[in-house]
Amino acid sequence: MNDDLQVEWVGDRLKGKTVALCVTGGIASIEAVKLIRCFRREGATVNVFATPESLKFIGKAALEWAAAQPIVTELSGLAEHICTEDIVVIAPATINTVNAIAAGIAGNVVTTLVASALGQETPVLIAATGHRSLYENPVFQRNLKQLPEIAPGVKFIPPKMEEGKAKMPELLQIVEETVAAL
Ligand SMILES: Cc1cc2nc3c(=O)[nH]c(=O)nc-3n(C[C@H](O)[C@H](O)[C@H](O)COP(=O)(O)O)c2cc1C
Repeated sequence: MNDDLQVEWVGDRLKGKTVALCVTGGIASIEAVKLIRCFRREGATVNVFATPESLKFIGKAALEWAAAQPIVTELSGLAEHICTEDIVVIAPATINTVNAIAAGIAGNVVTTLVASALGQETPVLIAATGHRSLYENPVFQRNLKQLPEIAPGVKFIPPKMEEGKAKMPELLQIVEETVAAL
């Protein structure tokens, strides 16, 4: 591998594991590059799935560089949406994506991958972010509670509530939750 793409391992707790990192269209998607490299520093291979909306916030090249491989941005004949990864992590997850998953909608690369993951009991970690008004939305709040009941593999990682916003948890906390879930 080109040495520009390499990371220095800080541990091997995700060695041999493949993480599907799903990026959706919140402003916090700009943190995805660092999160991908945090996973890789623990030995993980990271397959990145990005919604079309997320690509308004974060560039495809940056995500590919971080993952050191091509990313998935649309459904294709290679059937990347059939989940083969050990775990799915959605960070950041928009309110739209969470509500779509809870409604069983499989309308883009992320929601279709998650639909497949839930059908085979692959764990799904979700870090939902957004303005407080979106986070407090009653339909979203209902789904926050009910989704883990319907699909026991789903776990929400609570956001940092700051400045009137539900912000991304610390990146290393997301890694710790991923290690724990596996
Ligand atoms: C500047 C800007 C910031 C946004 N940030 C968020 C956010 O943090 N959380 C959220 O749920 N939606 C946010 N949205 C709205 C989503 O982009 C919108 O709901 C979109 O349809 C989500 O698509 P996706 O879930 O397919 O990625 C933001 C929109 C804009 C224009």
